[in-house]
Amino acid sequence: MRRSVLVTGATSGVGLGVALRLAGAGFDVFATARDEPKARKLRAAAAEREVSLRTVLLDVADSDSCRAAYAEVVAATGGGPWALVNNAGIPLVGAVEDLEDAAVRQLLEVNVVGAARMARLVLPGMRERGAGRIVNVSSLAGRVTAPGMGWYCAGKAALGALNDALRMEAGPGGVRVAVIEAGAYASAIQGRAADGLAALAGRQTLFGDMYRVAESALRESGTRLPSAEPVVSAVCRALVARRPRHRYVVGRQAKAGLLADALVPVRARDHFKRVAMGASEAHPVVEYAARRWCTPW
Ligand SMILES: NC(=O)c1ccc[n+]([C@@H]2O[C@H](COP(=O)([O-])OP(=O)(O)OC[C@H]3O[C@@H](n4cnc5c(N)ncnc54)[C@H](OP(=O)(O)O)[C@@H]3O)[C@@H](O)[C@H]2O)c1
Repeated sequence: MRRSVLVTGATSGVGLGVALRLAGAGFDVFATARDEPKARKLRAAAAEREVSLRTVLLDVADSDSCRAAYAEVVAATGGGPWALVNNAGIPLVGAVEDLEDAAVRQLLEVNVVGAARMARLVLPGMRERGAGRIVNVSSLAGRVTAPGMGWYCAGKAALGALNDALRMEAGPGGVRVAVIEAGAYASAIQGRAADGLAALAGRQTLFGDMYRVAESALRESGTRLPSAEPVVSAVCRALVARRPRHRYVVGRQAKAGLLADALVPVRARDHFKRVAMGASEAHPVVEYAARRWCTPW
């Protein structure tokens, strides 16, 4: 029987890439979109690739929508998906003191609570079958924090902690849980982050310079950042490997970032990150190096 996989946030970026790749590899893919026009585009992308997948409407921030989407997948598979890819995510850039509760709650609802809710829904069926996989798409940002990224990093760190707890809780029931920690790659997320920053532009803030530097870096990052392909490959490896790794760190930026965070003293590290984000000034050579190596996008 074909293995079924539920991929959240499959309308663009990594989610779309994973859904199409898995469909091409013969998986029974349930790819989620937030509304019907996006679902239609997703089916058209699959048709163009000559692969077949099913679309399900899902807003992970809405518990009724999660239950309805899951019920649809249960009815279609006769018991729920073999695997869940918790990929849906949104950005939030801004200093901790500049971001309002509503924006923070929405971020946590999508990037953390929504992912945990989907895991909670699929786990009983996986346990009953004694087999299943959950892949959580986190980020280098879950392990390394930058100024202006506090809440996004906090959300990804929380997702990493939930991933680790789930791995220990669900492992004995035959469910393998893996986390993907990717460095920055080009996707729609940079434009969404830049739009969020533009919305902060009118306010009184100590961080106006940082927002201007970050917004323009985000807007031109699409041409500079690597493609999402290695991340798509890592998610697929976590699903097809007989013994998946617990953690997939993807991309040179993620590997170098983790190493630098472990080795460079905090004071120097903080300085470089502030300079990289445009929150502090420095000699032009230091500025160039910091922007080249320490910007999170
Ligand atoms: N790009 C990077 O540099 C990077 C690096 C590390 C980790 N990540 C993580 O990778 C994941 C995928 O991001 P991406 O880069 O591929 O970004 P993306 O192209 O913006 O894709 C995000 C996906 O999540 C969906 N989504 C947003 N809010 C949702 C909600 N409430 N319910 C269901 N789906 C929702 C979006 O749907 P709509 O089209 O309807 O908005 C879209 O399909 C995210 O978790 C992100 O945090 C990204």
